[in-house]
Amino acid sequence: MRRIAILLCSALLCAQAQSPSSKKPFTPDIPKVWDDAAMASIELPRAAKVDVRPLSSAYYYTIPERTLWKTYPVYAPGKEPKGYWEWLQRQEPQVAVDFDKLKTEEDWIKAGSIVFDSANTYGPPDKGFMPVRDPGWWQAVNPPTTPEGIMPFESYVIREKGKVEVATDACAECHTRVMPDGKVIRGAQGNVPFGQMFAYAIHNIPEKTPAAPFNDVFYAAPWIKPDPSLPLGGGGIKPFHDQLASLPQGVNPRQGTSLLYPIQIPDLIGVRDRLYLDRTGLEQNRNIADLMRYDAINNFIQEITSYDGFIPNNDPGDTKLPDAKTQTRDSDRALYALAMYLYSLKPPENPNKFDALAAKGQKVFTREGCPKCHTPPLYTNNMLTPVEGFKVTDEAKANYRIMPVVVGTDPYNALNTRRGTGFYKVPSLKGVWYRGPFGHNGEVATLEDWFDVHRLDENYVRTGYRGYNLKSSAVPGHEYGLDISPEEKQALITFLKTL
Ligand code: HEC
Ligand code: HEC
Repeated sequence: MRRIAILLCSALLCAQAQSPSSKKPFTPDIPKVWDDAAMASIELPRAAKVDVRPLSSAYYYTIPERTLWKTYPVYAPGKEPKGYWEWLQRQEPQVAVDFDKLKTEEDWIKAGSIVFDSANTYGPPDKGFMPVRDPGWWQAVNPPTTPEGIMPFESYVIREKGKVEVATDACAECHTRVMPDGKVIRGAQGNVPFGQMFAYAIHNIPEKTPAAPFNDVFYAAPWIKPDPSLPLGGGGIKPFHDQLASLPQGVNPRQGTSLLYPIQIPDLIGVRDRLYLDRTGLEQNRNIADLMRYDAINNFIQEITSYDGFIPNNDPGDTKLPDAKTQTRDSDRALYALAMYLYSLKPPENPNKFDALAAKGQKVFTREGCPKCHTPPLYTNNMLTPVEGFKVTDEAKANYRIMPVVVGTDPYNALNTRRGTGFYKVPSLKGVWYRGPFGHNGEVATLEDWFDVHRLDENYVRTGYRGYNLKSSAVPGHEYGLDISPEEKQALITFLKTL
């Protein structure tokens, strides 16, 4: 038993020694998440005009709060400690956080780490959405694991003694990266094979089954004519499945984006300093309350939000809000702890030292005008750039930080999705050494590819996200740093990898 306890402790990154300063009493001033005025102004207007009506706070606060159950690690087949599964069956259900007992800032951050691992959805371990005890699943999904064999994207949970379930949809699912040496970076651009997981979950459905029920919840945008999600969502499940199965790690078909144009998973390390959230800058990040609101909206209020009468989670034509009791939400305290945890995330130690080559690269970076947009020390100017074909309104110019430069990358996500604002934000370049793929759709695997001039050609074979039925396609736009010598390119990339 003790052995299992030790294993669990190392797996769950149990409390590290605390510094004396973290022991100071801390009484947080927890903002109200669902404040009607703040909710009315947090989002930018959609590029494809639609009347988006945030829920009322009266409705929101009648949604029951989620219970934060204790979670347990999932091991790869053959790596599970002897007796672990049987031990799990004997565990009593345990609530992982008692907010009334939190005393220090460190306590709140630790509670936030638990919220980061907590599920919104539970399922059986051998079938359904996340059958992590099915060997076929491991073969099809092949997720990265730690040297101990832990798959850190999902976890087991016990809500009823003797019934071990898989907890899914936790922040950790997408925002965790397993490095090639097995080290886990929490909060980094995740490398969960999410497309393969989703594809496996639907691989047994008969080919002719309509994709619409899945498509409507996640991607439909019926106020745009024709609905841009129809190429994959308007027919049978087969192309929908094949597209999911083709997605590389590091991009995600997040709800509100597109299955045709899945979006790069952002690095959450440093999120506090960003003024806009999402690649399209859909949500402002004016203070900690806005970050809490972002988390509430995306897990999963967005799906019961009315887009001019279209509610993604409803049956077609049903414009009524679901009974609040059928939904769940995190408490304001849980969202506050989560935001504190996100604020506390630090990048791992960078093995790339700033040497003579990096110094040369820094000069190239300055000479090529990169700092105008990727301004040190954040390596972003925290501004939005309009996409080709989008007319910026005077109101937007007055209210948001807009740079009147079009970088020319693919405009689809900015124009044709629920999250589309007409803009892409200037992303920070910090941490590019431990992440990838790059581009808002993760179109290229490496920085070398991002600065490869051949990516502008129609016959370019993409190294990142490509699409299930496309052999080649250009990665247009952002032509900065493409026409420099190979030596300078190498120096520039060496510099970027020190950030
Ligand atoms: C299924 C995968 C998935 C899950 C689960 C998930 N996220 Fe994300 N998250 C994404 C993707 C993909 C984006 C990028 C969306 C975009 O750019 O439009 C994102 C964006 C974000 C952003 C915006 C960051 C930025 O710089 O733009 C924050 C903050 C965030 N997620 C926090 C969370 C938290 C907290 C949780 C848990 C409550 C969570 N996410 C759960 C995939 C996921
Ligand atoms: C006019 C503003 C601007 C300039 C100048 C600029 N960038 Fe960018 N950069 C952007 C924007 C905007 C994006 C995101 C585009 C998108 O989402 O489609 C981006 C994306 C990137 C990315 C991909 C990051 C990721 O995670 O996907 C890298 C790397 C990058 N830029 C490096 C550079 C370098 C190096 C230079 C100079 C040679 C440079 N940029 C010049 C605005 C700029």
